Parts: sequence; structure tokens; C-alpha cells
Amino acid sequence: MKFISVVGARPQFVKVAPVHVAMSGRHEHIIVHTGQHYDYRMSQVFFEVLNIPEPKYDLGVGSGTHGEQTAKMLALIEDVLIKERPDCVIVYGDTNSTLAGALAAVKLNVPVAHVEAGLRSYRHAMPEEINRVLTDHISKVLLCPTSVASSNLAKEGIVKGVHVVGDTMVQSLIEITPRLDPSVLFRYGVKEKGYVLATIHRQENADSRENMSEIVEAMLDHAGDIVLPLHPRTAKNLTAWGMMDRLKGAGNVKVVEPMDYVTFTTMERFASHIMTDSGGVQKEAYFFKVPCTTVRDETEWVETLEGGWNVLAGASRKRIAVSMARPVPMSPQTSYGDASVSSRIVDVLEGELE
Ligand code: UD1
Ligand code: UDP
Repeated sequence: MKFISVVGARPQFVKVAPVHVAMSGRHEHIIVHTGQHYDYRMSQVFFEVLNIPEPKYDLGVGSGTHGEQTAKMLALIEDVLIKERPDCVIVYGDTNSTLAGALAAVKLNVPVAHVEAGLRSYRHAMPEEINRVLTDHISKVLLCPTSVASSNLAKEGIVKGVHVVGDTMVQSLIEITPRLDPSVLFRYGVKEKGYVLATIHRQENADSRENMSEIVEAMLDHAGDIVLPLHPRTAKNLTAWGMMDRLKGAGNVKVVEPMDYVTFTTMERFASHIMTDSGGVQKEAYFFKVPCTTVRDETEWVETLEGGWNVLAGASRKRIAVSMARPVPMSPQTSYGDASVSSRIVDVLEGELE
């Protein structure tokens, strides 16, 4: 069979990597890159580090408003699908690239498979929530990471084509773990378990001066080192609001460029604490058993909250400080996946499509 995976944003390169490997030798697998992320450090470096082949199509859509960006992707993905006539389009997660890929396919009667189906924040103002709900409702095969995700789908009446397969991001993590070498910590002047790793890019935070002010102050309040690889969206706003100079002048916060996946996961593994509003980073913190402070009021990855591994602190200076002061939990964890997630995905696709 011929499969097309549509990807475009940083976490999707991590998610597609094991699926591509599982497809090899079994099916034709074409990668389409929408161009949603395009800076070398947000895109190309992931293909290099994860050994993903160059996308056959790079649509070069770039940044824009939600409507503009999604519309451009829709038109260009449609052209590719008409030319390639795949048996199935696979989309990942909840970005604008996910929705555009799913919509272009379903309108051409090409079956859609959604990797990371069934996640919900139940916050309608979040662009990702709209993308994932709509994608789930037009997908033929729903590949859920957890049983909570499949129950979420059942509540919306989606029961056909639903499979709990685990999380491909965890498979990527398992595969990268032997390559993690703590010597990279020297680059950032920090010691094992002697720093906080932080990322902030969620629209509700990065585009809100009020939220960013609370988050920046929380970082400055912290007594130890914080390494902050900054997403370009957040960097632009902090500079425009004059907060970048304050952060850089503080001494304890090291503002750096976005990292490649091996460097970043190494920095996660050896951090004493992680502060983030990322979906993927919450799960990665959990996998490495590093306590996490999530700078949001809800999470889709609800299992991480059990036993206190992850705490929702919102964009609140006070709540962030309280959460970051807590000790490392000792509680047992739920597994999000293993090294066979992507081969299970290919098995399920074969069963559903043939
Ligand atoms: C997108 C996803 C989000 C995901 C995140 C992963 C949507 C709605 N959002 O958010 O779910 O968590 O990717 O990182 O799809 N920019 C650059 N260079 C780049 C990419 C972006 O400078 O290579 C800047 C541009 O100013 C752009 C802004 O970042 O306008 C936002 O980029 P965009 O892809 O729209 O959203 P993300 O915040 O990256
Ligand atoms: N990541 C990375 N370098 C960074 C920040 C994140 O390699 O500087 C990786 C991280 O390990 C995870 C993914 O990017 O696999 C998460 O992407 P992001 O936080 O941008 O998106 P989200 O998961 O919130 O959609």
C-alpha cells in the first residue's frame, strides 16, 4: 500500500520517525512537510538527528494566521494527493498541519489515520483542541496513545476504527536514550541534576504579555540555574515587550536557541526539574522521572499528574514557585508505550485498510 504522512511542526518529526522505520520494507511511505516550521533548528535538524529521509514534498507554507496557514496547506496537500493517489494519509497530533492533511484527504475520499487520537484539554479556545477534535471526527483509523484517549472518543460517539497502540514519542525516546551523553551539559555551564530546563511556546502564554510577565518573574525568582531554549514565537514577543533583556540580565537564566532532539532530550534527562507548557515535554519529563511544572491550567496527558510527577501551575508566579520547590516523587508510573508502538500502528493500518 501507499501511505502519505503529513508533518510540519517540530513534535511531528519526532512522531513520524519510528513510523517511517516500521513502514520500510512493508509499504511505500512518503513524507510531506507542510513547511509550518522552517528554521533550521525547528525543522531540518530533526531530520538529520533522527535519520528521517528528506520529505518528497516540502510545501514551504511558512507562518501566517491560522486561517491563512491552514488554507495554503489544504490547497497544496490536495495537489500532492491528487498526484500520488495514496491508500491512506497519516496525520499526527494537533497542529494546523494535522487538520489540513486530514481535511485535504477526506475531501478526496482518501482514508485518514490519526496518530495521537482522542486527546482532549476541553478548552475550546485552544487552537490545538479544535484541530484534534475535527481531525478525530473525520478519521477512519484512530490510533490512541492511551485508554483515557479512547474513552474520550467514545464519549463523542467515536468507537469504530479506534485502537490503543501507545505513544510514538515514547518509542522515539526509548530509541534515543542510548545516545544521551551528559557531556553536552558543559555547553550550557550546568551540572547533572543542578538545573531546571524550561520551554514556553503555547499561544495562550507566548502571545499574552500578562502570562509571560508572570512566567518571567517566576524564572527570576528561582534560586538556581534555568536553561531556556526559546521557541522563535516566544523569543520575538519577549524582545518586543522588553522582557528579554530582563531575563538575560538576571544571571540565573540561560536563554539559548532551540536545541536538536538529542541535545534537548539529554538536557531533559539530567535536569533536576522541568518547567514547560509543551505537550511532548511533559511526557518526556515523566519518562525520565524528572518532576515537571506545567505552566497551563489543564493537560491532555492526565496520567502524568498521578503521583505528583507533573503539577499544573498555570501562568502564576506563586503557583510555579510552590510547584518547583517540591521534592522528586517516589510514586509508580503508568507506561505510555514501548519500542513496538509504530509496528503496532502498521499492523492496525493493514487490518483496517485491506
Ligand atoms: C505549533 C502548533 C503547536 C505545537 C508547536 C510545536 C498550531 C496551531 N500550533 O505552534 O500545537 O505545539 O507548533 O512547536 O499548529 N516561527 C519561526 N520559525 C519557525 C516556526 C515558527 O520564527 O520555524 C515563528 C513565527 O513567528 C510564527 C510563530 O513562530 O508565526 C508561530 O509558529 P506556528 O507554527 O504558527 O505555531 P507554533 O507556536 O510553533
Ligand atoms: N524539542 C527539541 N528541542 C527543543 C525543544 C523541544 O528537540 O529545543 C523536542 C522535544 O524533545 C519534544 C518536542 O520537541 O520531542 C516537543 O515539541 P514542542 O514542545 O515544540 O511541541 P508540543 O509537544 O507542545 O506540541
